[in-house]
Amino acid sequence: MNKTDQDLLTDTYGRTIKSLRMSITNRCNLDCIYCHNEGDTGNGKEMSVETISNIVNVAAGFGVNKIKFSGGEPLVRRDFEDIISSLPSMKDISVTTNGTLLSSRAQDLKDAGLDRVNISLDSLDPEKYQWITNKKPSLLNKVLDGIHSAIDAGLIPVKLNMVMLHGINDTKLDDMLEFTKEYSDDVILQLIQLMDVKDISKYQVDADAIEQGLAKRADEVRVRQMHHRKKYIIDGAEVEFVRPVDNTEFCANCNRLRVTADGKLKPCLLVNDDLVDVSNASLEDLPDLFKLAVHKRIPYCREV
Ligand code: 5AD
Repeated sequence: MNKTDQDLLTDTYGRTIKSLRMSITNRCNLDCIYCHNEGDTGNGKEMSVETISNIVNVAAGFGVNKIKFSGGEPLVRRDFEDIISSLPSMKDISVTTNGTLLSSRAQDLKDAGLDRVNISLDSLDPEKYQWITNKKPSLLNKVLDGIHSAIDAGLIPVKLNMVMLHGINDTKLDDMLEFTKEYSDDVILQLIQLMDVKDISKYQVDADAIEQGLAKRADEVRVRQMHHRKKYIIDGAEVEFVRPVDNTEFCANCNRLRVTADGKLKPCLLVNDDLVDVSNASLEDLPDLFKLAVHKRIPYCREV
């Protein structure tokens, strides 16, 4: 890949696409109170393995070297292993999953070519977990099994996604840090600032206060290239804080293009009038459609 090919996926704000975040279904076996559904306004249709493979191949031809699958819950698709097997070789192939369906499939997914997993885990308390996920009985034990199987299969580092919810789990950060520490080499805790998509602002946390608390306790602080996220090393545990809300730096450093479950290129999570339909596009048409979608990218938060 030479530089000019990469430049083809650089938007008018100088951001070059390096990763895809691809939803492969809107179906989910949980119903989390805060879920933004990846900003999907989809029609319930799902891309075939071939369509997915074509889209990723074209992206890879432009120098995109990372892909993250999301949903809904990607593992409700029985053909997820086939999807992974169909991909070209890339630097990083991962999935964001709720982990409840993972334990029996972790090894097969690793064998198919999956590198690592993000697992949503907002609470270690079964009742709170049940409340947040709107699912009875609590599936927390299945998630914990999923985490163990992922580690055993080498789907590491396992990132635990914890959406911070004021009055629900924000006082339990220490429990989660302890849990992370137990698996320190294999698990990273990723705290995520709540995006208010469903009138849930009462659960919004004071992100500055949390970040200051982390900084105070940290032995070391690093800044990641991706979205300029901060990473704290606390007593051997790695903790990242993702702050997508009203964050110009986050958007200025965004290098990902989304794909909806029904096959539309989606320039931004929070915008829905700029989608580019590629569900029926041929391999010949796909490159121009990619360039079109990238051209439409505007940082959601920006200095004006
Ligand atoms: N705010 C922040 N993160 C969210 N996620 C889903 N909805 C929201 C929201 N409203 C993230 C969580 C979850 C992943 C699938 O998407 O990190 O783990």
